[in-house]
Amino acid sequence: MRIGTPLGPDPTRVLLLGSGELGKEVAIAFQRLGVEVVAVDRYPHAPAHQVAHRWHAIDMTDPVTLATLIEQEAPDLVIPEIEAIATNALVEIEAAGTTVVPTARAAKLTMDREGIRRLAAEELGLPTSPYAFADTLDEVRAAIGRVGLPCVLKPVMSSSGKGQSVLKDAGDAEAAWEHARTAGRVSNPRVIVEGFVEFDYEITLLTVRHAGGTAFCEPVGHRQENGDYVESWQPQPMSPAALAAAQDVAGRITEALGGRGLFGVELFVRGDEVLFSEVSPRPHDTGLVTLATQRLSEFELHARAVLGLPVDTSLRSPGASAVVYGGQELTAPDYEGVAEALAVPGADLRLFGKPTAGERRRMGVAVAAADDVATARDRATAAAAHVRPVPRAGDPGPAGR
Ligand SMILES: Nc1ncnc2c1ncn2[C@@H]1O[C@H](COP(=O)(O)OP(=O)(O)OP(=O)(O)O)[C@@H](O)[C@H]1O
Ligand SMILES: [Mg+2]
Repeated sequence: MRIGTPLGPDPTRVLLLGSGELGKEVAIAFQRLGVEVVAVDRYPHAPAHQVAHRWHAIDMTDPVTLATLIEQEAPDLVIPEIEAIATNALVEIEAAGTTVVPTARAAKLTMDREGIRRLAAEELGLPTSPYAFADTLDEVRAAIGRVGLPCVLKPVMSSSGKGQSVLKDAGDAEAAWEHARTAGRVSNPRVIVEGFVEFDYEITLLTVRHAGGTAFCEPVGHRQENGDYVESWQPQPMSPAALAAAQDVAGRITEALGGRGLFGVELFVRGDEVLFSEVSPRPHDTGLVTLATQRLSEFELHARAVLGLPVDTSLRSPGASAVVYGGQELTAPDYEGVAEALAVPGADLRLFGKPTAGERRRMGVAVAAADDVATARDRATAAAAHVRPVPRAGDPGPAGR
């Protein structure tokens, strides 16, 4: 394969659909390989916009707007970074001859919990929690009856834990349904009710489909609060049987989705038993840890795989990541504590440069390497705790604006 010169007459051009913190690292990985990067998000100055050759702010859920932009930019590769995209437009674009990463079908199936769950459990026979779907409160009650308690209720279209509730009692149904209705991506949601899995630990198995086959990274362990990741580490120790089962599940689901690229396969582990939870057909937030641990980060692996280049999934050092939250609503915040964070041994920092902060909005991540995971977790957590988004110097505050 050849790579053209960016901004020249015949560049190798990628179009990133979604320009968040993961897209920013993907963009940097492509930039380093001399690929022309066009970054798209729904708002200006998104993280990947800031490191792209060109950027656009459009409504990516509108199929006409999306198709028009893709036609105008004529990319070699269309690379979805988020789920909320008009995936039917991607199916048409792929049929017309443009490569969608990893495949338009993968983007379509994974934007909706129902598509991917039915593929995994009903077509492939992968082990999952028991589940049922519902469109009304009555159907939710029936679903709980079938799945059992405790259970988890989630809008089928949602991410980062939005609209999710854990139900311990049948009486929790109405509050959970209301929560899903008000917090999901759409106002009248279909929901999935899943049996609550008492796992020993959960992992993301970063899986790369590349020109030479399928490769696995060392398992990433993580801790979630309210359905959102707060801390991850690599490697997560696993029994040989559990690791083999995890690789088998990850190999089968990624094979079914097809194409080339890196996938984040989310798995629950209980003893030697592994249950499939969900999969991102793209770099995964918990995989930010690979910026500190692997010779090639998950973002570099994704870029190489989709370009048909060789990959290397080897671990360089144990490590960990910890999230820096906004903590409060801010516009164009300043960041305090950066020097203190970077003084933590083995620690590094990514500030995403988002134009506004919110209490639970992810604004940065601290990563750290160490000789063992426990030390790395301490370091990453300590470094993240030093960093504080604050009102910018001279900001008169909401009252003075
Ligand atoms: N059936 C379940 N049993 C036990 N825990 C669960 C179950 N489903 C979800 N969780 C917990 O909630 C977390 C988030 O769930 P899930 O990955 O389905 O949601 P999400 O909104 O897609 O999150 P993200 O986008 O951050 O991956 C899981 O990583 C796990 O910790
Ligand atoms: Mg998840």
